[in-house]
Amino acid sequence: MTGFCHSDMTTLDGPGRTMKRSGTGLIPLIALDGPTPLYRQLYGWFQHAIVEGRLRPGQRVPSTRALARELKISRIPVLTAYQQLHAEGYLESFTGAGTCVAASIPEEALKTASRAARRPPRKIAARLSSGVDAVLALPPDPKQPGAAFRVSLPALDHFPNDIWSSLLTRHARHPAPRHLAYGDPMGDIGFRETIADYLSMARAVRCDASQIMVVAGSQHGLQIAARALLNKDDAVWMEEPGYPGAHRAFAIAGARAVPVPVDADGLDVEAGLARAPHARAAYVTPSHQYPMGMTLSAARRMQLLSWAARHDGWIIEDDYDSEYRYAGHPIAAVQGLSAEDRVIYAGTFSKVLFPALRVGYLVIPKSLIAGFSAARDAIDLFPATLFQLALADFVREGHFARHVRRMRMLYMERRALLISALGEIGQVEIVSAEAGMHLVALLPRGADDRAISERAAAAGLSVQPLSLCCLEKPKRPGLILGYGGTDARRITAGMRRLSALL
Ligand SMILES: Cc1ncc(COP(=O)(O)O)c(C=O)c1O
Repeated sequence: MTGFCHSDMTTLDGPGRTMKRSGTGLIPLIALDGPTPLYRQLYGWFQHAIVEGRLRPGQRVPSTRALARELKISRIPVLTAYQQLHAEGYLESFTGAGTCVAASIPEEALKTASRAARRPPRKIAARLSSGVDAVLALPPDPKQPGAAFRVSLPALDHFPNDIWSSLLTRHARHPAPRHLAYGDPMGDIGFRETIADYLSMARAVRCDASQIMVVAGSQHGLQIAARALLNKDDAVWMEEPGYPGAHRAFAIAGARAVPVPVDADGLDVEAGLARAPHARAAYVTPSHQYPMGMTLSAARRMQLLSWAARHDGWIIEDDYDSEYRYAGHPIAAVQGLSAEDRVIYAGTFSKVLFPALRVGYLVIPKSLIAGFSAARDAIDLFPATLFQLALADFVREGHFARHVRRMRMLYMERRALLISALGEIGQVEIVSAEAGMHLVALLPRGADDRAISERAAAAGLSVQPLSLCCLEKPKRPGLILGYGGTDARRITAGMRRLSALL
């Protein structure tokens, strides 16, 4: 390299303080100590001196030999530090002219960096997307994993871990190369066939495997549906009260949630028509409304399907826990009634097996498959393969059906115990469908369910306030009590604590 370095050191800030003259030029006074390797200390000293303006662009630095001699250390750490500073563009060398601070570092940049280095760090008001702002404006989900009455938690200690681990090992030990490679955005075809068979039989869903997309839980499914179907500010009917996770899924996608009240027959379609007839989608939990528990009546189902057909709307059916019904016949899915194929059906293994599995599925109308698949490819490519293979065997070999049967008995007992304990407390009105893994206890009008929930949390109880499920002013305060993952002993002890709080 040809060029030159400035040898005039009078421009140095306080040269007397940082440098002393030696036979070959100015030698910095570098205090080397501590356990940090010598080359790192040297590198750090030069880098700071350049950034803070104590060494200027074009200024000569001592030779490695001179610096090593002056510091009374071996030349190797000095060479290593200089190499690094060269590589990062802080130093440059010219044949016959020695080594200098790179002239190409703009002085203005250095001044700014040096001013910034002296200032205490400034708090930056981060600008986030409008979707995130919308989610942050919603009340946060008070997650209390493990606490008694936690909603949506199954009986984790009853899961057949031995069977599950042997199925995982079966597929992990000698995987086919294609199972280790990139996969289909819709999921593994064998698993999708298994899901399609199960849904046709157990839920009266009309589908084949080409319509099934394997997702990471139904929350992910809602997100993919929102991304694929909705534009910013598109209106979506939301059940009021409704599932807060759905509020968040649609808020982050930029949609405008339109609260539509539910009554004893489920979503009030007439009210939806009055509030936003041209909504793009309706989010519903027809088999077991979340959180109130009623079933969407046959008349309302027909009204909803007719709205979707007339207004080019889509129904997003969240069938999150319909495996657990303790009386009467299973409720068929709305999807199976839709002659126009206007329903996106979402299901999950979180409630039946365990939530950390993060496996669920969407059933997609045929006209939307290509669009949903492209959206999925853009979001996260495809679902992890190993759990799909193991889960397909879990279902095909009968372990799934057996586990559901056992859990149904267990949850029935827990539900009965909770209802009787609540009855003893008095003061609350129980709203309980004979289904699912939770029930709602309505509190006297005027009670503050959020304050009660906070006090309960301090006592180790996870009781969700009903008002958290509302986008508008709640009609009635209440508490949502999960019983699936709370055993008899904790139900009894927890109810005693809750009674004292109330
Ligand atoms: C009504 C409803 N939908 C969806 C979900 C999300 O479940 P997943 O774990 O499959 O995302 C939940 C979880 O609590 C739920 O209660």
